[in-house]
Amino acid sequence: MKENIQAKFVKSSGSIADAPPPLKPEFAFIGRSNVGKSSLINMLANNKSLAKVSATPGKTISINHFLINNAWYLVDLPGYGFAKRSKEQRATWEKVMFEYFAKRENLCGVFVLIDSRIEPQASDISFINKLGEMQVPLMLVFTKSDKNNQSVTAKSVNRFKDELLKYWEEFPVHFITSSVTAKGRESILQFIEKAVKS
Ligand code: GTP
Ligand code: MG
Repeated sequence: MKENIQAKFVKSSGSIADAPPPLKPEFAFIGRSNVGKSSLINMLANNKSLAKVSATPGKTISINHFLINNAWYLVDLPGYGFAKRSKEQRATWEKVMFEYFAKRENLCGVFVLIDSRIEPQASDISFINKLGEMQVPLMLVFTKSDKNNQSVTAKSVNRFKDELLKYWEEFPVHFITSSVTAKGRESILQFIEKAVKS
């Protein structure tokens, strides 16, 4: 069923003022550079060339809208934690992103991607905490799970959970994915479709 998903690029915007009218529910995807965001978006959409890799990662701030099944927007957001971003670029990122999270009225939730292979990163924790403070609904996606066996991935997720539970009362909804095997695809799409219909 999901094989026939329709995904259409709509627009790249520099801020929510330029974004498509907020007339359909939307779900955003974000994470540190190289976490596997483009690969995940392409895996979900079953289209290997949908999310393009930026030539100058971290430099341009663009909010990219894709329309899925003519029903909801998938939004590819510029990531955080770029060592190469200047102070000014970082300030612009914060301004644009936190305005988006605070004001985008059709935003139903943000999927925060975490590399399932590595130790909990301070930049991930502080970004998640910031979204929590803003009361933005968030879901976690642990990427690249094909690179380890299930028990190693489970340990890594638990380590992240322990770290997050220092700040949170509950561990958010989370998914374990692989863009190579398409693990997690159905679960994420079902989660979104259920939210869109309710
Ligand atoms: P930037 O846009 O550059 O910040 O990166 P990104 O977060 O979009 O990551 P991208 O999808 O470009 O993936 C980064 C690297 O990780 C690439 O070499 C991918 O092939 C690899 N990769 C991404 N997802 C997976 C996965 O699920 N499994 C494996 N084995 N490799 C992955
Ligand atoms: Mg990318």
